[in-house]
Amino acid sequence: MILIGAGGHARACMEVIEQEGKYQIAGLVGMPEEMRSQHLGYTVIATDDALPELAKEYRCALITVGMVGPADKRIHLYRQAAQAGFLLPHIIAPTAHVSRHATIGAGTIVMHGAIVNAGARVGSNCIVNSRALIEHDATVEDHCHISTGAILNGSVTIGAGSFVGSGSVVKDGLRLGKCCLVGMGLSVRHNQADHARFIGHGRK
Ligand SMILES: CC(C)(COP(=O)(O)OP(=O)(O)OC[C@H]1O[C@@H](n2cnc3c(N)ncnc32)[C@H](O)[C@@H]1OP(=O)(O)O)[C@@H](O)C(=O)NCCC(=O)NCCS
Repeated sequence: MILIGAGGHARACMEVIEQEGKYQIAGLVGMPEEMRSQHLGYTVIATDDALPELAKEYRCALITVGMVGPADKRIHLYRQAAQAGFLLPHIIAPTAHVSRHATIGAGTIVMHGAIVNAGARVGSNCIVNSRALIEHDATVEDHCHISTGAILNGSVTIGAGSFVGSGSVVKDGLRLGKCCLVGMGLSVRHNQADHARFIGHGRK
């Protein structure tokens, strides 16, 4: 497996991939200035313009660029990797609990200690970060990041490309639109429109 992105989130992904044990990490794709740099023993072997070449040699890829706010970069890389011919499997930490009645899309990573409960649906290219909770019947559309320790209560819907900050709680049944940003440590008690930026205390 090739990891596309060579920052802090990539290192957290390595930890999960190693523990899951299904894929061997062949190397990373990074920025030109990151070429040949080492990350937990893995090397940046190429930049993203080499994806079509790499896809001839390696079967799978995971987008390991982190995301606080807009999903554009992760969406672009995901499409580029798919177009290059990579398979984009999901990765599930052995310490996570994913209900057999839940679905997880392609290219999504469910990290250590996360819970995805019965009836929940998580789309493609998402990050369900360490200790996040996706409660029963919740839907997380494609390209979202549900950060460390965030809680999506039952039947919540998170629109595509949205970010929910660390430790934030979304009330059951609510809908957040597409490309929303919820800051860390907040209680979301009302539906949010597409592109809403919710950082609490009336701040925008
Ligand atoms: C929402 C966020 C993106 C805003 O970042 P920003 O645009 O750089 O804004 P600033 O940090 O300059 O904050 C602007 C103001 O809003 C306040 N604010 C920002 N985020 C807040 C939050 N989550 N809760 C309450 N107040 C917040 C700041 O204190 C600041 O107010 P002040 O000027 O009175 O001190 C950032 O604060 C945040 O929550 N990031 C998410 C972190 C996270 O969850 N990471 C994921 C790890 S897996």
